Amino acid sequence: MGRRMMVAGNWKMFTTSGEGALLVQDIAEGLGDVLEEVEAVVCPPFTGIKAASTVIELDHVTMGLGAQDMFWESEGAYTGAISARMLTELRCTHVIIGHSERREFFGETDETVNKKVHAVFAAGMTPIMCCGETLATRDALETDSFIRAQVLAGAAGLSADDAARLVIAYEPIWAIGTGRTPTPESANDVARSIRATVGAMYGPPAAMQVRVLYGGSVKAENAKMFFTEPDIDGALVGGAALKADSFAGIVRAAL
Ligand code: PGA
Repeated sequence: MGRRMMVAGNWKMFTTSGEGALLVQDIAEGLGDVLEEVEAVVCPPFTGIKAASTVIELDHVTMGLGAQDMFWESEGAYTGAISARMLTELRCTHVIIGHSERREFFGETDETVNKKVHAVFAAGMTPIMCCGETLATRDALETDSFIRAQVLAGAAGLSADDAARLVIAYEPIWAIGTGRTPTPESANDVARSIRATVGAMYGPPAAMQVRVLYGGSVKAENAKMFFTEPDIDGALVGGAALKADSFAGIVRAAL
């Protein structure tokens, strides 16, 4: 069975809930039946999730809804944190875990990523687990070992079934928001290595089924060249996910 292509929009700290609701409506209008083919996911800020969820439900939109982070405990005295059960109540289906901005600005580590990945699965949602190297790591020719270590730690201790359902976003940090991208071939090399790492951890079926997204300056104009690579199963999109036309263009490129 082939892997279904996925395009996830990471809205980061952009959009009020009103703006987000309109954006979801515009994306859904622009895509129509394409949403039956490609798995599209929008990830608003926490405050925009309810409004986006309402649009998705009332307009019968076939679109996933994700959060950009969550805490691993289900409830407790954790000021400022959001738990899985708060997200599933709002019909969230996905959670981005370990984005490089969370690692850089909020102290996320491979260990906290791993705890969160487990908590996302325990709640029946799908983690989109991010990994990616800095330019210094790439220049030192250490990308492969660095990414391998991130995947080994972040995806540790899963069942083979959960590993097969995992989504891993490969996002070179130097490509995020910069307009620079690796060549599709070099992005695919890393995606293949991620798949092999999952295979070594959980066996060939998990390696065959795990989806690996590319992220970093993906636009409607360059998406197709990544999507035609054999080990790349879609994209995690930042800036270009904030305009309905450009996001819809990327989703169409995955057809
Ligand atoms: P970008 O961000 O598409 O704006 O480069 C990607 C991401 O950070 O997920």
